[in-house]
Amino acid sequence: MIDGHTCLFGIIGNPVTHSLSPAMHNAAFAELGLNGVYVPMQPDNLDHGFQGLKALGFIGVSVTVPFKVKIMAYLDHIDPVAQKIGAVNTLLFDRDIPDLVRCKGYNTDWLGSNQALAEEIRLDRSTVLIIGAGGAARAVGFGLKEAGAKVVLTNRTESKGRELAAQLNCPFAPASELAEIRADALVNTTSVGMTPHDDSIPIRADLLGHFPVVMDIVYAPLETRLLREAAAHGCRTIDGLKMLQYQGAAQFTLWTNRPAPHAAMRAALLRELQAHSS
Ligand code: ATR
Repeated sequence: MIDGHTCLFGIIGNPVTHSLSPAMHNAAFAELGLNGVYVPMQPDNLDHGFQGLKALGFIGVSVTVPFKVKIMAYLDHIDPVAQKIGAVNTLLFDRDIPDLVRCKGYNTDWLGSNQALAEEIRLDRSTVLIIGAGGAARAVGFGLKEAGAKVVLTNRTESKGRELAAQLNCPFAPASELAEIRADALVNTTSVGMTPHDDSIPIRADLLGHFPVVMDIVYAPLETRLLREAAAHGCRTIDGLKMLQYQGAAQFTLWTNRPAPHAAMRAALLRELQAHSS
């Protein structure tokens, strides 16, 4: 029920029409009986979009591609880990003083990946191999360092991989040396394996036995070729919806100060994913 007291939340990005976040957050509001609504928004101009959110009373907003870096210039405060990652995916508007709205920026992607991995391994005692060197790899990598894990990075383009590895203060493993790497977990942060390239895999399948836990951030399909081959090699697997769900749960708690209703959020994500793929 939307009325004069409904609290406003949403996601800005371009495109956002296929985002699963509205279904996830609206299910969470419904589950807890909160009077909130979460809407997708696609501003052509970030400047106008941000001023609009501020003026219209929004409380919390997710930020996605292509605005995660540019949005940082608009914020009054940026969480230190988001600063290290160099990207913000969550806004929290502080409206305690009506004429002085302040906006804080966070990154919950790293909280999402850490929480998903922490269900399977002790982060502070583990080594994790990250595949990729883009924005997602930055969030996963800095998140793991934050939790005290050891990280090894590999990437198709060596120069880009070495650059991020240097920032993470971790070793870089070129493709030619991957067979020698052993780690407690492997995380794919690239889009390799995403529909319509379901048959692609970001690492040689015969190496998967070197990693007891394998996590993919790709969630379409939910069981990627990487996860299927990993299961066949006896690895425990973590699907791509886990990181999405847990980063969303962290946003929900930041915005509402309530524990997130995990089961309702996951069920909504699965329903939405199903609807998109049929
Ligand atoms: P995001 O911000 O979503 O992480 P990105 O910045 O475009 O996206 O990064 C994509 C990552 O996936 C990169 O590490 C990219 O490797 P390159 O640096 O070599 O481009 C990796 N990637 C994308 N497609 C790939 C493919 N077909 N094979 C291997 N790596 C791939």
